[in-house]
Amino acid sequence: MTPRRPPRGKPVLHTDRLELQPLTWDHLPELTALDADEEVMRYLDRPRTPEQVCERQLARMDPTHDAMSLGYWCGYHRGRFVGWWLLTPEGPGWAEIGWRLSRSAWGRGLATEGARAVIEHGFTTVGLERIKGETMVANERSRSVMVKLGMRHTRIEHRTWEDPLPGVEQGEWLAEISRDEWLAQGS
Ligand SMILES: CC(C)(COP(=O)(O)OP(=O)(O)OC[C@H]1O[C@@H](n2cnc3c(N)ncnc32)[C@H](O)[C@@H]1OP(=O)(O)O)[C@@H](O)C(=O)NCCC(=O)NCCS
Repeated sequence: MTPRRPPRGKPVLHTDRLELQPLTWDHLPELTALDADEEVMRYLDRPRTPEQVCERQLARMDPTHDAMSLGYWCGYHRGRFVGWWLLTPEGPGWAEIGWRLSRSAWGRGLATEGARAVIEHGFTTVGLERIKGETMVANERSRSVMVKLGMRHTRIEHRTWEDPLPGVEQGEWLAEISRDEWLAQGS
């Protein structure tokens, strides 16, 4: 990997329809509403209380991630919150991507559009070598976003959970993309 000095902090990212703002405490009410929605949380967890979301916000705002120009971004379309995207460090040169959108924002291509901007940032600005993603096999919408991004399905893993969600028996669907694969797409 070519060593690159990442920019200090995280930039605001822009796409045709989205402004992706680095997560701050100001976004807490929107994230609280998102995690309280049973349908949004269907393949993730039980719906969360405001206290649980507040606790998670601390980890989501990890300053070491910000310093690497990684972490969480909240997306706005025409000034309205639509959801968040994450790109969190997993090891030297690689990170995990994820997304969670409000139900009203589904089916408009916004998840994929925001993810493209985050991946582009990860590979070209931060200098990552590899980005991975994972979702429940049962989460067809999330798998479809990864496929549209050109991520390669690598394997299915079966894990044990304390409080398993419906569909978990199908396993976890893992995918990844390297910087070379991303650049070859001409994205
Ligand atoms: C997973 C999730 C982000 C996917 O959202 P999504 O809206 O289906 O994904 P996209 O933004 O790529 O939109 C795709 C759809 O928009 C449609 N679309 C409409 N206008 C579009 C446009 N201008 N450009 C592209 N696609 C468009 C596509 O046809 C596609 O529909 P289809 O899936 O029925 O074929 C969303 O369902 C979600 O937040 N789920 C809850 C949280 C979750 O499970 N997160 C993942 C955990 S691993």
